Amino acid sequence: MIRFLLGHSLSVRLLWLTIVVVLMVEVLAFVPAMGRARHDWLVQHVRSGQIAILTAAAVPGGEIDPGLRDTLLSLCGAVSVRLDVPGQPSLVLRSGAVGAAVPVENLRRETALEEMRRALGALVHQGGGLLRVEAASPLAPEATIEIVFNQNTLDADLRAVADDIGTVSVLVALTAGVLMYLALHALLVRPMHRIIGSIVAFRTDPERANPIDPEAVAPLANDEIAAASRELAALQRELRGALWRNARLAALGAAMSRTSHDLRGILSPALLAAERLQTHDDPKVSHAGEVLVRAVEGATDLIRRTVEFAREGPPALRRAPLELSRVVEEAIEQVHATAPGLHIESEIPPATRVDGDAGELVRVFANLLRNAGEAGAGHVVVSAIAIGGEIAVTVSDDGPGLPAAVREALFHPFVTGGRRGGSGLGLAIAHDLVRAHGGDLVLLQSGAAGTSFRLTLPRDTGADGKPA
Ligand SMILES: Nc1ncnc2c1ncn2[C@@H]1O[C@H](COP(=O)(O)OP(=O)(O)O)[C@@H](O)[C@H]1O
Ligand SMILES: [Mg+2]
Repeated sequence: MIRFLLGHSLSVRLLWLTIVVVLMVEVLAFVPAMGRARHDWLVQHVRSGQIAILTAAAVPGGEIDPGLRDTLLSLCGAVSVRLDVPGQPSLVLRSGAVGAAVPVENLRRETALEEMRRALGALVHQGGGLLRVEAASPLAPEATIEIVFNQNTLDADLRAVADDIGTVSVLVALTAGVLMYLALHALLVRPMHRIIGSIVAFRTDPERANPIDPEAVAPLANDEIAAASRELAALQRELRGALWRNARLAALGAAMSRTSHDLRGILSPALLAAERLQTHDDPKVSHAGEVLVRAVEGATDLIRRTVEFAREGPPALRRAPLELSRVVEEAIEQVHATAPGLHIESEIPPATRVDGDAGELVRVFANLLRNAGEAGAGHVVVSAIAIGGEIAVTVSDDGPGLPAAVREALFHPFVTGGRRGGSGLGLAIAHDLVRAHGGDLVLLQSGAAGTSFRLTLPRDTGADGKPA
């Protein structure tokens, strides 16, 4: 129990906070309440004094019996009572002499602030003494009634009132605190624990842990906790799906690499035979041999690239300042070796320098250019401009545009437009490589008139930190 009350949980802290705040509010309300209680006490005694003195004045003959007089005085809690009506002799009811040195309080002129100060004074006042109070008579405002009483009686009554208020305050604070605690526990702390539990379980075993059930977490359907648990559930579902897909992809990669090894073994006699056919005297036969060699090499190459992709981790870049036009020229040379008819124009301004890995960037451009040629473009233009700290390169062709099916998941692996021999890896790899450089590869536009890709690369800032 002690450990619970000293705990660090949100609800225990709020329990204490509520108790303290309610007690502070009670203390603020306590002072005016005490002032009021003292005022009411005095008004009550003035009234009783008025009744007593009128009773005494009504005695026939005007002489009051001392026994009756003491009874009247003790009933109204006073030592002496006096009524002054202007133009009439004063009426006095008293059992003994009252010293003139008794301090006088005039209720007519008492402010609320004085009421509170005197009430608090009464709570700490020690010892007895008499108090003389003057007030307007309840019967006629111009008449003055004055009563003298023992201060002890007022002090004792006010202390009793203070005791009552104090007890009630503590009870109210405790009740408010406990109610607050229960409400917060149900609305906030318990749902929070469930969310934390789900996060921990998910972190421990993300592939098997069940996503959180938002319905079971939050008692209210529309609050922030409910929104948080819905988002968490969505995140967990998506992450789990991605992990499952990755696991499958890894298994596929392993299977492919075995298959590729076996397939190369199976195909090597075919390749040998085809190469022998290539050297045949009959041109028709040697041509058939060439076709066969290309087909077999194409098949093994496709499998090799797929396996490499599955194995490949994030590329380790060997970055250096590069002349972009040189990189593009090299890519053009590579592409021309297989597609001599494709007309490629490089419009890259001289001294456009990027910070990157030459080999990997050549691979990226060769991929884009080769794709254009394979799609049937006759003309490709590569241009570049510097934008801030980046170089934006555009590769535009006059080909037939991207097939609709490809556009949906253009940069995903294994997405092809149905071209025979394509692996669907070119754009996925190019995209990964550009991103590894800190840039991005996007499709600018694609239609019947051609396709444009835009890639951004970090500008080489040179040794002095300024763009070269
Ligand atoms: N410039 C382009 N014009 C038309 N289609 C293209 C172009 N570039 C890519 N594509 C389409 O995108 C598909 C995916 O390209 P890629 O990832 O390089 O795989 P692959 O070339 O191995 O098929 C291609 O099969 C092709 O259909
Ligand atoms: Mg390609």
